[in-house]
Amino acid sequence: MPGKANGAAPVQHTTPVPAHAVRFTTPVVQTPAAFILGRWLWRLLAFMGALPVRYPLSVASVAVLAASWWVLDWIGPAVVSTVAVVGGLAWRHWHPVSFRRWAALRALALVRGVWVYRRHWQPVLVVSGLAESYLERQYLPRIRSVVCSEWADRVRVKLVPGTAPGDFEERTAQLAHGFGAPACRVEVRGPLDVVLEFPRRDMLAEPIGAMDVPDSADEVDLGALPMGRCEDGRTWTMRLHGTHVLVAGVTGAGKGSVIWSAIRAMLPAIREGLARVRAVDPKRMELSYGRPLFYRYADSGEACVELLEEAVADMQARADAYAGRIRSHTPSVDDPFEVVVLDEVAFLTAYHPNKDVRRRAENAMATLTSQGRSVGFTVVAALQDPRKEVMNLRNLFPDKVALRLDEATQVDMVLGPDARDRGADAHLIDPAAPGTAFVRLEGSKVPTRVRAAYVSDEDIDAMADGYRSSSCEGEVA
Ligand SMILES: Nc1ncnc2c1ncn2[C@@H]1O[C@H](COP(=O)(O)OP(=O)(O)OP(=O)(O)O)[C@@H](O)[C@H]1O
Ligand SMILES: [Mg+2]
Repeated sequence: MPGKANGAAPVQHTTPVPAHAVRFTTPVVQTPAAFILGRWLWRLLAFMGALPVRYPLSVASVAVLAASWWVLDWIGPAVVSTVAVVGGLAWRHWHPVSFRRWAALRALALVRGVWVYRRHWQPVLVVSGLAESYLERQYLPRIRSVVCSEWADRVRVKLVPGTAPGDFEERTAQLAHGFGAPACRVEVRGPLDVVLEFPRRDMLAEPIGAMDVPDSADEVDLGALPMGRCEDGRTWTMRLHGTHVLVAGVTGAGKGSVIWSAIRAMLPAIREGLARVRAVDPKRMELSYGRPLFYRYADSGEACVELLEEAVADMQARADAYAGRIRSHTPSVDDPFEVVVLDEVAFLTAYHPNKDVRRRAENAMATLTSQGRSVGFTVVAALQDPRKEVMNLRNLFPDKVALRLDEATQVDMVLGPDARDRGADAHLIDPAAPGTAFVRLEGSKVPTRVRAAYVSDEDIDAMADGYRSSSCEGEVA
């Protein structure tokens, strides 16, 4: 065989190039050294120009030092430094707690900024697909600042043109793993400006005891009822007046603690007749405990529907009375704030065997949720399964609380399709932390992680006893 013989030249499989063919070669163009130098100079000037914007405090301090030196010779910097040191010492002396906190958080931000974020920034972004090439630094989103609070690090990032905050929102899991954090949330500040929030520890790990009951109805703010704690340690407050709230979560997720925390926060207003609660309790387990607190209570299918229809009639009577006279409701003894609490709403909308009961219940709920908020009627509905077949009125509830859910799709149903991109993984909530939830309020894109305070049976007993004795006193008086 040709080409196999010993010592024969190897067979060439290349196609012969015809003599007339045109050959293309890439021209080698050397960038002129002056151009490269000019570019570096321009970058240096741009960096210097941006310094006062990026580090205003540091630049101002250096400017003050330099100016004092210019005017007063060496005495100037000496005086300025002495004033700064004395100021710092005075702060430490008069407010040691705030000083120590500030100093510790600044030091932590410095260390974590360098050691955790800047050190791993490039590899994490490249591997997670947020930077095209690790060779070209100008195409890498830049860390603008790192700020530490007690519970989280906030990394402010300047994006490169051509990337969108959505790219970061889609890769929160990779970013969290990359920087060794349990989660990552993205806050969009503006064009090309995002903040990545990496929690360092879970402020909601421990159960929270029932919140304090306000002393009087004057202290009850129906627009911000204390319900528990937010992830950043602040009190979680929830608006009830002028909205409707949907609370979704699997069995044992803690729906009861959300409902009872809201009732507890309104207690003085209930006592003084400024708020009234109608309770629908088909399971007879959740709300029956606090029965004396309710203006109306129903547990059987027919009674529940009658309660809802009565609420609709009262709402329409109030709307008639307000028509053309009053545009918004202010709670009073004559026109109290009316809350309809529905536990396991699916019993009425989907599971009840009587079709007529299901239809009437749905109609009444739709009327209350679509017309009630401006006349002081609010619906708080709890359910285990948020699917459309079970509850097709979800969109009539402006505010949503997603406790632990079974599947990611259920989170989308309750909080909206983009909530998980913003870190609201309600399907991943630890079953050992009931009461933990993601809250999405009307008009807000950012879901907040919270934990409801736990109102125990003893707390509910005490609330009911207190209410009974105060109404007896009222009757005697
Ligand atoms: N906020 C909370 N903090 C700590 N533990 C809680 C909290 N809420 C509930 N729990 C615990 O979880 C248990 C179940 O809570 P709860 O009855 O409120 O769940 P649920 O969602 O109403 O369930 P179901 O749908 O079966 O009624 C409670 O008995 C309590 O032990
Ligand atoms: Mg319950």
